[in-house]
Amino acid sequence: MPPDLSPIDHAKYVCARRAADMVETGMRVGLGTGSTAVFLVKRLGERVREEGLRIRAVPTSTRTAELAREEGIEVVSLDAAKWLDLTIDGADEFDPQLALIKGGGGALLQEKIVATASDRMVVIADRGKVVDTLGAFPLPIEVIPFGWQTTRTLVEEMLMSMDVQGRSGKLRTAGEAPFRTDESNYILDFELGRIGAPAHLALALNQIPGVVENGLFVDICDEVIIGYGDGRTEVRARAAAEGGETGSLFADLPD
Ligand code: 5RP
Repeated sequence: MPPDLSPIDHAKYVCARRAADMVETGMRVGLGTGSTAVFLVKRLGERVREEGLRIRAVPTSTRTAELAREEGIEVVSLDAAKWLDLTIDGADEFDPQLALIKGGGGALLQEKIVATASDRMVVIADRGKVVDTLGAFPLPIEVIPFGWQTTRTLVEEMLMSMDVQGRSGKLRTAGEAPFRTDESNYILDFELGRIGAPAHLALALNQIPGVVENGLFVDICDEVIIGYGDGRTEVRARAAAEGGETGSLFADLPD
């Protein structure tokens, strides 16, 4: 373990290393974004240099692409890779069914596309990301800049009929200016408190014109590797997750 890691960084480091061990030569691998994913990319870089690991990687952001190249990992576009064997990414929250909130780092759009185009998605997360019900972490929603305030109003109105506790959305900023995603879109962060039916909400959000994508990942993640500050890791798989597999994106839709 590198010296001087805080307990939380140690937790991120150990789960990232365990996930990096799942990667084998010849694989096409999706690389997530965020501080936990940084540990993953660095470990994969070590394996490329020290063990001769050969992979083709599809990064989920320009930040991750730059780091992967610096680490000597071959980077290809998703269209060149076509389909991926494995994607490894962080998360902001996950529930017992392994539904996720993602997008704290602003890369949710590419992250969802890449994870969906993978045989398997493994999330790496410190213990602090475990929740019983999603929603304490504000839900990121990527929107087109044109008419973004109208889009926010439409989302807030739609939320009145949803099983959530709050419904106010804030424009994410970077200094004085709006934060821009890799696609130059904006992010609205919604304080929902509790999301009772994540699959239903994920579908409803994407029906609103102006919404590009939302940070709810339902039935996408197959496994979570949880890291602990004392160096332990724990694996939770979706089929075995508490409450059983949700089975379908449409599982919690009303009849
Ligand atoms: C980026 C993400 C990240 O995976 C998420 O924010 C977790 O980040 P970190 O590993 O820094 O806690 O969704 O869009």
